[in-house]
Amino acid sequence: MMLPRHIWPDTATISDGRLHLGGCDARALAAAYGTPLYVFDEATLRGAMRAYLAAFERQGLPFGVHYAAKALLNTALAQMVAQEGLGLDVVSGAELLVARRAGVPMERVHFHGNAPGDAELERAVAWGVGAVVVDNLDELERLAALTAGRDRPQGVMLRVAPNIAAPTHAHITTGGADSKFGLPPEALDAAATRLRASPGLRFRGLHAHIGSQLFDLEPLRATVAVLVDLAARLRDGHGLAAEELSPGGGLGTPYLAEEAAPDVATYAAALSASLREGCAALALPLPRLTVEPGRSIVARAGVALYTVMGRKLAADGTTRHLHVDGGMADNPRPALYDARYTALLANRPGAPPGPPVTVAGRYCEAGDVLLRDVSLPPAQPGDLLAVATAGAYTLSMASTYNLAPRPAAVLVAEGRARLIQRRETEDDLLARDLPL
Ligand SMILES: Cc1ncc(COP(=O)(O)O)c(C=O)c1O
Repeated sequence: MMLPRHIWPDTATISDGRLHLGGCDARALAAAYGTPLYVFDEATLRGAMRAYLAAFERQGLPFGVHYAAKALLNTALAQMVAQEGLGLDVVSGAELLVARRAGVPMERVHFHGNAPGDAELERAVAWGVGAVVVDNLDELERLAALTAGRDRPQGVMLRVAPNIAAPTHAHITTGGADSKFGLPPEALDAAATRLRASPGLRFRGLHAHIGSQLFDLEPLRATVAVLVDLAARLRDGHGLAAEELSPGGGLGTPYLAEEAAPDVATYAAALSASLREGCAALALPLPRLTVEPGRSIVARAGVALYTVMGRKLAADGTTRHLHVDGGMADNPRPALYDARYTALLANRPGAPPGPPVTVAGRYCEAGDVLLRDVSLPPAQPGDLLAVATAGAYTLSMASTYNLAPRPAAVLVAEGRARLIQRRETEDDLLARDLPL
């Protein structure tokens, strides 16, 4: 049985009738670490990071690739980010803490957010992040006050709402005029005036992010064009030079065998061409192009393993629902966005499929359905379900709904597995809970 390469990790194979990841038998991983378990393939992670760097290197312009921590963050991953030479985008004080713990150079860290707390901004400034990406005028005001007496001005990028609708799910489109994110272009003059009057701040450039899970490059090209136009407006109107432009992240990832996303090389070429054309037309020096991929770096590297706990049979005796030991608390995407996934039975992937089944999670919510009408071999309690492309926006969005402990994560490579995040314990869960 061949696994579709574009949705399973590079090292995923079927041998001896079982799924192997990074040279490790998935069943042995489940036995050793329990389920639900998130397995990350190191080769796929590092390969994705290197592919981004190589693709932009080939474009011959100054660039930065900042991994977007919101897709998944733990210290081991942030260490790989640092080792591979990427930067990191964070949105909270704790994400910044992980970046520092992992040794990510602070000048390669961008601090984002539409409502950061004062303490978080203070930490970002004190630790010397390369840029605070300011989302709105009130945040700019707070940051200006916080940095007023500083010797070394804090680099700032302004996030704009480019008014480009991204063709993706409404919950993950962020660049439209009524999105909660970013300065509307008409507020840019006020932001520029405030920046110029703030000795503690130094303008570095402009940022936008129009949405996630994008398969069409055209809106991303258009975003770069808008950023270039706005950079020219700031130069002409305020004498501000944008040395860096960032169209955010968003490159899509296939979750189903029949889906195909543009490759990173095509993406890099499209964005770079748009930047060069725009800058040439407006006589702007080429700024650094910074991209912020999240999903396209970690999604395919992650496989979620669940144990089948039970079945619900239809009147004719066929299995209608499979119940597994995880669900919406470790992977809220199907409930949030109707996200679809591909799965197989890791302990007998090649067995002939039965009628389509729906895989339901363990949580007390009718919407807790991980996969709808998927083709799987008839499964029984004790079987091991492997869900592909489970690396992004799963563990990072996990909750403790029903007080079920959050899963462990392991990193696999060359037949070795390393625990990178231990399973949450009941003691962890109760540690914050204070009796009367
Ligand atoms: C500002 C910003 N940058 C980057 C990303 C990463 O997007 P993706 O994971 O789709 O690449 C996001 C995701 O929401 C974002 O909000």
